[in-house]
Amino acid sequence: MHFKNKRVLITGGTSGIGKAFARVLSQKGAAVAVCARRQEALKKLQSVIPGIVTISVDLSKKKEIACLKKILQKEMGGIDILINNAGKMAQFDVSDGFPNRYENEIALNLNAPVELCRLFLPQLLKRDRTAIINVTSGYALWPNKTSPLYCATKSALHFFTKSIRWQLENSTVKVIEVLPPLVKTPSAAKKGGMDPLVFAKKVISQIEDGKTEIKIAEVKALSIFMRLTPFVIDRVLRKM
Ligand SMILES: NC(=O)c1ccc[n+]([C@@H]2O[C@H](COP(=O)([O-])OP(=O)(O)OC[C@H]3O[C@@H](n4cnc5c(N)ncnc54)[C@H](OP(=O)(O)O)[C@@H]3O)[C@@H](O)[C@H]2O)c1
Repeated sequence: MHFKNKRVLITGGTSGIGKAFARVLSQKGAAVAVCARRQEALKKLQSVIPGIVTISVDLSKKKEIACLKKILQKEMGGIDILINNAGKMAQFDVSDGFPNRYENEIALNLNAPVELCRLFLPQLLKRDRTAIINVTSGYALWPNKTSPLYCATKSALHFFTKSIRWQLENSTVKVIEVLPPLVKTPSAAKKGGMDPLVFAKKVISQIEDGKTEIKIAEVKALSIFMRLTPFVIDRVLRKM
């Protein structure tokens, strides 16, 4: 899969991993559009990446998502690659109660990528060498103790991605999943982690090599240990 001259929509492209994807893909000759909520961050991105299309939208609101297709049709004539990257992680313990508007996390992490697939798939199917790239997490494969809805939404998106990859395997649409390790971004669960630009370059290079399930660093290592010693991994993870 190559990115030159492809029209790409990146959700949550103003910060962290999404912003790094926007920079790497622009350098590769793709026409990039990003969407996020904060206008200032979108404006700032326009000065960093000239020619980038920016759209302000709250993806946790289904009504707002509908406008994206029209805007992108007008600005770029549609898209070839959809990158569902925007996501958030709320940490809470159910014994202390659920956070207010907990359903927004489900709407952003799961409903929005599914709805964007529904909206854009018809045009992706009509074009040559298109792709849907869903960003999940290592927590899509195993849960942690601190963010139950995050783990639930990411594992749901993981299986949605795998299932539609099988459905679309004879079509022009490649279905790719990126399972990031800890990456140094404003919303990372812990301190430290990989530099977002280094991470984005590794991911894009693996996609160019034809990989469809991208596991890097500790996610790659843990998924191997999970298969070999599931009980040990379970015991370790429940303490994290
Ligand atoms: N960083 C990590 O260690 C890590 C590890 C595993 C998986 N991931 C996954 O990687 C993806 C990117 O994470 P990140 O750490 O790069 O996040 P980030 O730096 O916090 O960036 C999140 C982006 O999403 C946008 N966004 C948030 N809520 C939104 C909403 N309701 N509607 C539209 N846009 C919204 C934000 O812009 P606005 O706030 O302006 O809307 C921002 O552009 C997420 O799916 C995350 O779960 C990250």
